[in-house]
Amino acid sequence: MSNDGIKRRDFIKQSAAGLSVPILAGETTVTPVATQGIRPLVISSSNRNRTPTGDVFEGGIACVTRAMEIIKAGGDTLDAVVAGVKIVEDDPRDDSVGYGGLPNEECDVELDASVMHGPSRRAGAVASLRYIKNPASVAKLVLERTDHLLLVGEGALRFALKHGFKKEDLLTEPSRKAWLAWRESLNPRDGWGPSPLRTGGEQERKTSSAGLSREEIALNEWIAEKLRHRQTGTINCLALNAAGDISGVTTTSGLAWKIPGRVGDSPIIGSGLYVDNEVGAAGSTGRGEECIYINGSHTIVENMRRGMSPADAAMDAIKRISHRYGDNRTELANFNINFYAINKRGEHGGASLWKGGTYAIHDGREAKIVDCAWLYEKK
Ligand code: GLY
Repeated sequence: MSNDGIKRRDFIKQSAAGLSVPILAGETTVTPVATQGIRPLVISSSNRNRTPTGDVFEGGIACVTRAMEIIKAGGDTLDAVVAGVKIVEDDPRDDSVGYGGLPNEECDVELDASVMHGPSRRAGAVASLRYIKNPASVAKLVLERTDHLLLVGEGALRFALKHGFKKEDLLTEPSRKAWLAWRESLNPRDGWGPSPLRTGGEQERKTSSAGLSREEIALNEWIAEKLRHRQTGTINCLALNAAGDISGVTTTSGLAWKIPGRVGDSPIIGSGLYVDNEVGAAGSTGRGEECIYINGSHTIVENMRRGMSPADAAMDAIKRISHRYGDNRTELANFNINFYAINKRGEHGGASLWKGGTYAIHDGREAKIVDCAWLYEKK
């Protein structure tokens, strides 16, 4: 049978039927991966949050569970991943994403997100979006309803409002209190303070906890943790369905206490997210500037195209970041970064700069947390 004249749309259908011969698609010769017998797969960053009330919110498990429900019901992979992360955007217990995300240095919450749909090869993104708690859904509308790719700031807000999104205050009481503690801890000679956390020290905090309720102690501990590590949370979610179609999303409130207008990797296609329907997908969480420098997610997908496994492809990206610092662990200890990847065969992997990274997976049977490979261990 001649394959001349087969359109990419047809190619995708044939690919899903499990063909394993090169097919001419338009002007590009591609070698489809056999997809027969593929099980659907969803992975996401684990987003295991210790909350201001002291309990734990498993954002990643909630995300992959929702996305898999939609895929099993026959939904599109992009609808699935956006619905998955929406649970985390809506829930203030995750303070790195959507409602309740930690604010910028002026106490305004600014959100970034991107989406990419493998079958249509299209992407959409928003950056520095204020007052709208679901930036991933707005990014999806940029993909669906415009011929643009990235909207920022005031323009992104107006676009969202015109599409019926509601303007909301995204600051919660815990995130406002964390911002205040951060602001008051900055400079002993400015007008802000005093903060109960200003002098720090575990012993002092314990002493000052005397007479506080369990809730107040949990909140103080949560705030102290937010001041110890400058947060670069984020959730990334990638999905593959049984037909071999792939989509991804990354959504974040970005670096805590950032300068207004700072944009990380999450809304940058190729950095915080990349999908190629014929190869696989990758995304990242952690220090966005480092990911942008090496174009992390695109690098990983290209590694997989050349035959690397998802875990090896992700670890190669981590090593490129380490290399920028001459592999100097003292400098690298100032941040962390994680990559997550899936390929078209349904294999997955994750890699972190520092030991301890995890991600959530749903293989159609169960949702669980698995470990990322890691380059360095903190002693
Ligand atoms: N990875 C999220 C950020 O750096 O903004």
